[in-house]
Amino acid sequence: MRIHTAVLPVAGLGTRFLPVTKSIPKEMLPVVDRPLIQYVVEEAFSAGIEQVVLVSSTGKAVLEDHFDSSVELEMALEAKGKDELLQLVRDLAPPAGRSISSVRQSAPLGLGHAVLCAWPIVGNKPFAVLLPDDFIWTDDNTPSVLTQMVEQFNKLEASVVAVMDVSPSQTNLYGVIDPYNPKVDDSEDIIRAKGFVEKPSPDVAPSNLAVIGRYILTPEIFPLLANGKKGAGGEIQLTDAISALLGQQSVFGYRFSGTRYDCGDKIGFQMANIALSLQRSEMRSELLPFLREQLARWN
Ligand code: UTP
Repeated sequence: MRIHTAVLPVAGLGTRFLPVTKSIPKEMLPVVDRPLIQYVVEEAFSAGIEQVVLVSSTGKAVLEDHFDSSVELEMALEAKGKDELLQLVRDLAPPAGRSISSVRQSAPLGLGHAVLCAWPIVGNKPFAVLLPDDFIWTDDNTPSVLTQMVEQFNKLEASVVAVMDVSPSQTNLYGVIDPYNPKVDDSEDIIRAKGFVEKPSPDVAPSNLAVIGRYILTPEIFPLLANGKKGAGGEIQLTDAISALLGQQSVFGYRFSGTRYDCGDKIGFQMANIALSLQRSEMRSELLPFLREQLARWN
């Protein structure tokens, strides 16, 4: 079973980033010089995905525009001999044989509902889900997180969700895996799930392994989403449907390699920008003295 399609839900309101997200989609906010959406689209294509489906909403057309050709801009860059920039712009288009399309979520009824909106395009095949605001950096020697997960899916032939260790005091911010074997060893990458709990308080959390925005799901999730009752926050939650899926088949957590930044949140977003800027040698030389100065000021 090949993973052919990746669903990218981008229809959320992005309220944590207001006022900027009133008119600019959160997914267009840049980490250094690329918008968040570009990183996940590149991650999907690098993992062998052929079809990217954006689950979009009013005011988000700019996300598709970003990957569309811009004849005027290309002509202007060509005329000025700005070949490197021209290539940068041209490289945004999906490679041959790959596509980016979109469906609409008519109202922000929750992440689970957003994924359900892609059912007619995905069909009855396993598929990936990537949340653009979960920015995950991997070094040059490590495959992207989706590539790692496709490999796990091929071995397990079951749904796989990305998980990460968080501080026990932070379980109330995440969906958390309830492991089949409660004593999960630090060295285990694959954790069989007994259940998932949405945002448990630290005293009742079944683990401190938080679900992060990368999933490979079997299509049996769709009817569960379609029947889905509203969960936390009055929204149709993906986590609830994955818990229900466990009644029919196995689901595994995968402890990925990579550093995750919560770019749906102002602090995580700034951290990602600082970390990624420091990796650029041309930026590091000016940025480091500035950061040292700031540190001295605030210490
Ligand atoms: P978030 O929980 O981050 O919600 O959604 P949000 O609306 O984007 O941001 P805040 O919390 O108001 O600041 C997680 C992912 O699910 C998508 C979002 O676009 C984001 O990628 N989503 C959420 C939808 O596509 N539709 C929804 O109804 C809800």
